[in-house]
Amino acid sequence: MKMRQLFRISVVFVLGQLLYKAVTQQCGSQVSIFGWMLKGHIYNTMWAELQHKCVQVCREDDRCQSFNWVISLLKREFSNRTKEARPEDFIPDPDRFYYKRDRNRVPLGSIPKLPAETCLEIKMSEGHSISQKYWFSTIKPGTSALAHCNMETEDIDECTSSVRLCDVNATCTNNREFAVISDLKLSNNGSYLCTCKIGFSGDGKTCNDLDECTTGSHSCDVNSVCQNNAGSYTCSCNAGYTGDGKTCNDIDECSSNAHSCGVNAVCNNTVGSYACACKAGYSGDGRKCTDIDECASGTDDCHSSRALCTNTVGSFNCSCSSSYIGDGRTCNIPSECQNYGSLNSGSRRTSYSSYYHYYCDSSLGPGWFRFQGSAGTRMATSCPSTYRCGTYYPGWLYGGHPSVADGLVTRTVYFNNGYCNGYSRNIKVRNCGSYYVYYLSGTPTCNLRYCGTN
Ligand SMILES: *[C@@H]1O[C@H](CO)[C@@H](O)[C@H](O)[C@H]1NC(C)=O
Ligand SMILES: *[C@@H]1O[C@H](CO)[C@@H](O)[C@H](O)[C@H]1NC(C)=O
Ligand SMILES: *[C@@H]1O[C@H](CO)[C@@H](O)[C@H](O)[C@H]1NC(C)=O
Ligand SMILES: *[C@@H]1O[C@H](CO)[C@@H](O)[C@H](O)[C@H]1NC(C)=O
Ligand SMILES: *[C@@H]1O[C@H](CO)[C@@H](O)[C@H](O)[C@H]1NC(C)=O
Repeated sequence: MKMRQLFRISVVFVLGQLLYKAVTQQCGSQVSIFGWMLKGHIYNTMWAELQHKCVQVCREDDRCQSFNWVISLLKREFSNRTKEARPEDFIPDPDRFYYKRDRNRVPLGSIPKLPAETCLEIKMSEGHSISQKYWFSTIKPGTSALAHCNMETEDIDECTSSVRLCDVNATCTNNREFAVISDLKLSNNGSYLCTCKIGFSGDGKTCNDLDECTTGSHSCDVNSVCQNNAGSYTCSCNAGYTGDGKTCNDIDECSSNAHSCGVNAVCNNTVGSYACACKAGYSGDGRKCTDIDECASGTDDCHSSRALCTNTVGSFNCSCSSSYIGDGRTCNIPSECQNYGSLNSGSRRTSYSSYYHYYCDSSLGPGWFRFQGSAGTRMATSCPSTYRCGTYYPGWLYGGHPSVADGLVTRTVYFNNGYCNGYSRNIKVRNCGSYYVYYLSGTPTCNLRYCGTN
């Protein structure tokens, strides 16, 4: 029993020595470590004949960092790590040799096919501390991403990853507190932070546009239109307002001449707009205003039946008909045509001839008088002979009677003392339409008299 066991051990030993020799022969300068193996990183295994050049297979694969030789099974196990990278996985095994790839070993993390897990792993594997971008495994199997390693803190800056971790519209913040965690493989659990940019909402991995217009989180003026867009919004002032949209002020179209009121219209500015109204005397919609014929439409305020209405552009004119006085709106009968004294004695007529009546008008008036009755209808206008009209020196009107339109006129009355213009007196005369009135005062002496005729 003991002998058999001893024999078996010695056979294994001898075999091992043989194999060791064979392998070392095959593998040339390969550094081999007997009785050890690297576990957990084997990506391929291969049956091997003794003669087979084992190293060659490793040399031809970029992934190959080392391999284990399984003595009893004549099998090789290719690993994508070295024992330097993962010292914790380097364990004793009496049935194995460990070989590190002898030449052209690809540095860990330097190509996509050979991604690292952590910065520390690279540091250990390559024996240097160059802070730069390396390839790392990602959460998606078989894919790798380029990201920056800070070898001092051994932190991967996930935010530099060639694979996008945050939404396009998010900000990525690298968190150095979790420096040793190779978080490219992990979810957003603290080693980096995705925050949606202003104007977007979401968890950072996915950010959706925030509609500021409907959520009311905009600062547009009440008199503007809010228009949402990706990440932001715009404000534009309503028609009739001016400003940047955040502040909109009423445009005074009337004073800025930005209105369409007609020339004969009044522009009235209102908040957000304006109104046009035709001026008095015009009618229309305020854009087009036409003259109103107030005389024809009867909207004038001329004194009816006593005044003439004349239409003018934009207005009208009132003028009192002749025989009325006033401003056209009020036309009155002159008071002297209504309130006058009556000169009606038949002796006043120029046709009256007598040497026995020596009447004198020295105390007449002053006041308005009308010739009536036997005295005739008006003052004589040609020189009467002396002793006519019941006096020595009869008076007569020089210059003729005025027309109604002449209004109130001043005239001279002459008295015939042998000379037709022997004495004179200035008087006023008005044509009242169907009769005349005279403003008379006492004669300069006696016996002088104002004379009537028909
Ligand atoms: C490295 O080896 C591990 C362990 O076998 C394997 O899961 C991984 O996919 C390998 N990596 C690559 C890039 O082949
Ligand atoms: C991100 O925002 C931009 C504008 O800032 C927008 O054009 C784009 O559509 C947004 N992307 C996504 C995925 O929402
Ligand atoms: C992030 O997740 C990994 C894997 O689940 C874990 O090991 C690590 O502790 C987590 N970090 C934090 C800050 O939660
Ligand atoms: C102008 O418009 C305002 C508001 O509509 C109104 O109150 C005001 O009377 C108008 N003014 C004129 C001169 O039309
Ligand atoms: C209106 O009447 C005034 C005064 O009577 C006159 O001066 C003016 O010329 C008149 N206008 C027209 C357009 O007739």
